[in-house]
Amino acid sequence: MMLSKKMAKALNGQINAEMYSAYMYLGMSAYAADKGYNGVAGWMGAQAKEEMGHAMKIYGFVQSRGAKVELDAIGKPPANYTSVLDVFKKTLKHEQHVTGLINKLFDAAKAEKDHATEIFLQWFVTEQVEEEESVTDILGKLEMAGNHPGAIYMIDRELGARATAGH
Ligand SMILES: [Fe+2]
Ligand SMILES: [Fe+2]
Repeated sequence: MMLSKKMAKALNGQINAEMYSAYMYLGMSAYAADKGYNGVAGWMGAQAKEEMGHAMKIYGFVQSRGAKVELDAIGKPPANYTSVLDVFKKTLKHEQHVTGLINKLFDAAKAEKDHATEIFLQWFVTEQVEEEESVTDILGKLEMAGNHPGAIYMIDRELGARATAGH
């Protein structure tokens, strides 16, 4: 069954939101690299790739359901942050915002009794739980580290492991 016009529009909107996420994380990666936090830069680079993967998942689903992918302009993400802590505070806020978007899509699919879209979106619901959990964990560590450069350095190294682990 083809996607409804409304559902297709909403999913196209989510492709844009995921691409914006990728762009925002790429900007955060550039900020971190510029400040010498190579671990954070690597982590954010991996995050950006994941977000592009999310966009592509939806892209493929829209096409599978016989609807048209319509790409919109991607918003300009911030270029500057005050600290790595600031970066992760904004990351958590952003992921919470995305969770809200996914929940809205899920509600729309349910309202239309579009079971295929509902099941497709389940993966994203679970993914958002993981995203918020991992970012909250990093934020907790950064808050504990406070202004101790040694502690921040350790966290940076730990985060760098993600990029090499290929996650
Ligand atoms: Fe995402
Ligand atoms: Fe995300």
